[in-house]
Formats: sequence, C-alpha cells, structure tokens
Amino acid sequence: MSFNIRIKSNPQLVLKNDGDDSLLETLRKAGIEVPTSCENGVCATCKGKIYQGEVSYPHTQPSGLMPDEEANHEALFCCAHPRSDCLIDHPELLLPGEYPARFFKLVLIQTRPINPHVTAYKFKTESPVPFKFLAGQYIELILKNHRYPLSIVTSPEDYLKTLELEIHIVQSDLTQENKLKTALENPEKIMLYGPKGRAYLRKNLPGDLVFLAGGSGITPMLSIIPEALKNFKNSNSTQQVYLYWGARSPELLYAVDLIKTWQKEFQNFHFVPVLNTPVHTVLLGHFEKFSQPSIFMAGPPAMVQAAQTGLLAKNLPNENIFGDGLF
Ligand code: FES
Repeated sequence: MSFNIRIKSNPQLVLKNDGDDSLLETLRKAGIEVPTSCENGVCATCKGKIYQGEVSYPHTQPSGLMPDEEANHEALFCCAHPRSDCLIDHPELLLPGEYPARFFKLVLIQTRPINPHVTAYKFKTESPVPFKFLAGQYIELILKNHRYPLSIVTSPEDYLKTLELEIHIVQSDLTQENKLKTALENPEKIMLYGPKGRAYLRKNLPGDLVFLAGGSGITPMLSIIPEALKNFKNSNSTQQVYLYWGARSPELLYAVDLIKTWQKEFQNFHFVPVLNTPVHTVLLGHFEKFSQPSIFMAGPPAMVQAAQTGLLAKNLPNENIFGDGLF
C-alpha cells in the first residue's frame, strides 16, 4: 500500500511512500534533507511534526520520543513509517536548492527615508561566509532579544556583489513595526537568522508569473521580480509577468517609479496599482487572462488567505500558489 506525504511548509510537493520506507527515506529519495544523527530512534535530532495522518514504528522502539511528544503528534522521522497519507514538517527541513538558515552578524550602514511613510535600511553582513538566500525569502532581524521577520528587498545577485542587504519598513499603526523602527534608531548588536520562507521564485515555471502584493507585501516582490525579468532579456518568450499592488493611499505605493522603469524595459511586464479596493479581488477579476499562472502573494494574512481561497475556487492548482503561511 502506498501513501501520499506532503510537507506543510511546501504543500505544492506530493511525495510517494511505498509503505516500506520511513519518513526520512521518503524525504531523502526526493532530495529533501532533514538533520539526523543516530538514525535509530534515540537522539531525537530528526524529530518533526505529523499535522495529519498516522505513523507507527514497526522496526524500532523510539526511545528518543517521550509519551507527551507522541501525544502532541511529534515523530522521529528516521524510524516513523506512515500508516496513512500524512502532512508533516520539520523546522530545519531543506528542499533541493534551499540554503540552511544560520546566524549572521549585521552592521547598519545606511538609513534612508523614501518618503514620510517608508524608511529603507541597509545592512552589511559581517561573516567569513556570505549569507545565501533565494529571491523572495525573508530574514529574522534579531535586536535586543526580539525577532522581527522582514523581507529582503535586495536581489541575491546584487547582495553577492556588495554583501549589502536592504529592508523597508512601512510606517503603520502596528506596534511591532514602530518598536522595530525605534530599536533601529539606536542599534547595539544586530543579528540576522535566515534565510526563511518558501515563497521564492522557482526556475522554469511554464506559464505567466503573477505577483500579488498587499501594502508592505511589495518588499519581497522588489527582490523577486527583477530576478524573474532577467530571464526575459534576449529572449522571445511569450510568458507575461503581472504585478498587482494594493495600498490604502498613493504615498504607500512608494516604489511606483522603480516599477515603471521595469514597464519601459520589458514589454511583457504589466503593473496594476490598486487603491481603495481589496487588491486580490481585482486580480481574481482578471484571472481569465492569465495563461497557466503561478501566483506569488505577500501581504496581510487575511488578504493572502482570501486570495488563495478565490484562486482555488477558479480551479488553479494549489501547486501554482506561493505565499508564506499558506496551506
Ligand atoms: S536521527 Fe536520532 S532519533 Fe532520528
């Protein structure tokens, strides 16, 4: 009997388990890495979570798994065998091509107001090993024992030239953002932990690329879209790239001048700014014009969830929808 194994942080992928393999063997056969040590149910290095489905331990008594952990649906992937279709995850699981998250020291080298509502911060990484990430991923900025998840605006290629990373903070009523802004005004030690996130650009997606940004959700798009457009230089591709960006006021559409330069350079890039209307509803209204789209989303969780629901209702496969926190 075979089972489907899916990964919660990357629901696009469906792995086949033939009924004989452990979860670890299933992941490895797909080129997916999970940290391990003993591989015999003792050390708990491979301990992950079973969000849906059942597992059992036919060959080993998992002494590294406490009864309360098992009751909490945790499992030792090295010796757990699925007994049904499963939805699983491990905090340090790496898909092929992904980079492991690590700590890096940062130095703040520039603070630049873009307009009265948005400030850009530039950091230099200080490490013998360069930080590696994929366009569309984010970092956790660690300041005074507080972790702030922030999208990277810089493209991976530009970062490697300068070892400089840019982030944007959009002023809002949110206490978290105001707290971060204040902390950055007087920084002591700054660290980053990353890269994180799976809403990054995949290679060779066949159809149109559609980007949906709500408010400050534009920040990962400023890294990912130039990367996507690079592929169109010197190519006759008919693939189209669309950006839908919604905000509460024109000042919050703060990167329009940059985006217009992309429009001038690339005929197949289309920009739809949206004010005073939920941006995902505008995108859903245009859905029929997209050809085999892959849709990347970032912004308020409620918008991202509503967009996913709307896209699935239009029969877009979940594999074509990318956004952190989606399932
Ligand atoms: S690797 Fe040691 S328990 Fe799985």
